[in-house]
Amino acid sequence: MADNGRMTEAHDVPAVTLARGVAMPMVGFGTWPMRAHQACEAVLRALQAGYRHVDTATMYANEAEVGHALRDSGLPRQEVFLTTKLRASDAGRERKILSSSLRALGTDYVDLWLVHWPPRGAASVSVWRELLALRDEGLVRAVGVSNYSLAQIDELVRATGEAPAVNQIHWNPRRYNAGLLEGLRQRDVVVEGYSPLKDTNLRDPVLADIAAAHGVTPAQVVLRWHLEHEIAVIPKSASPGRIAANLDLFGFSLEPAEVARIDGLAAG
Ligand SMILES: NC(=O)c1ccc[n+]([C@@H]2O[C@H](COP(=O)([O-])OP(=O)(O)OC[C@H]3O[C@@H](n4cnc5c(N)ncnc54)[C@H](OP(=O)(O)O)[C@@H]3O)[C@@H](O)[C@H]2O)c1
Repeated sequence: MADNGRMTEAHDVPAVTLARGVAMPMVGFGTWPMRAHQACEAVLRALQAGYRHVDTATMYANEAEVGHALRDSGLPRQEVFLTTKLRASDAGRERKILSSSLRALGTDYVDLWLVHWPPRGAASVSVWRELLALRDEGLVRAVGVSNYSLAQIDELVRATGEAPAVNQIHWNPRRYNAGLLEGLRQRDVVVEGYSPLKDTNLRDPVLADIAAAHGVTPAQVVLRWHLEHEIAVIPKSASPGRIAANLDLFGFSLEPAEVARIDGLAAG
């Protein structure tokens, strides 16, 4: 798919439609814990390889580098879906923090702004109200949460009538949880999985077997498994070869029986 830095078409990657018609590419580029020159170079390479969705956060201290790479790519701003996140410890300073994220990223809006963790372990309705207000002002196209439980999401919905567009959560075959997926779906919350690869045993015989059957790598099988479950996924890599391979997921698909075998790797 990606070919020596050639820009690929954004439509190579399917998108999920969030509330209010915001389209989010199902595969994004994770940027933690890259900083400085490495972050800038990796994000630029990812954009050149065809990624049109980049995941950063105030906490990652690399928003300026993401913005720099975006400008260096020459891509129009509206072609790249940008996510950043509010640190839990910045609850109460939402407007100020969003302005500094926008300044660092060199843009006047982000596509998705997430509460990174429940502030002080609680749903924090006041923070959610601020996110909704800033979205209504047009500084953010969609708002969501990360690392929230179903009960915490329910609390936000009860208070405001608005569900987060996305819950970004730790997800991989060992963490597969059909009940949680169904619960988020019932609430119209799109699931985005983080750390898809680093906590996965890529030598697992089930993954190796399925990878061999499709002529792909176990890592590609894991990423494709997310997509089969309609879970957006944001792998990080600093290696040019893996940056490209992690987006090269559309020349094969998994059979339902293969998906079920991978689901079966869930830890008890
Ligand atoms: N919301 C949250 O609380 C939260 C928490 C953690 C992460 N995140 C986000 O999610 C993104 C992804 O998660 P992550 O970085 O923790 O984990 P990850 O993407 O699962 O794993 C990254 C690690 O896997 C390696 N890797 C990448 N592609 C590979 C491949 N094809 N084969 C083998 N190894 C490969 C990378 O090494 P190389 O770089 O050497 O390729 C790196 O060591 C983060 O970058 C961040 O944007 C969000």
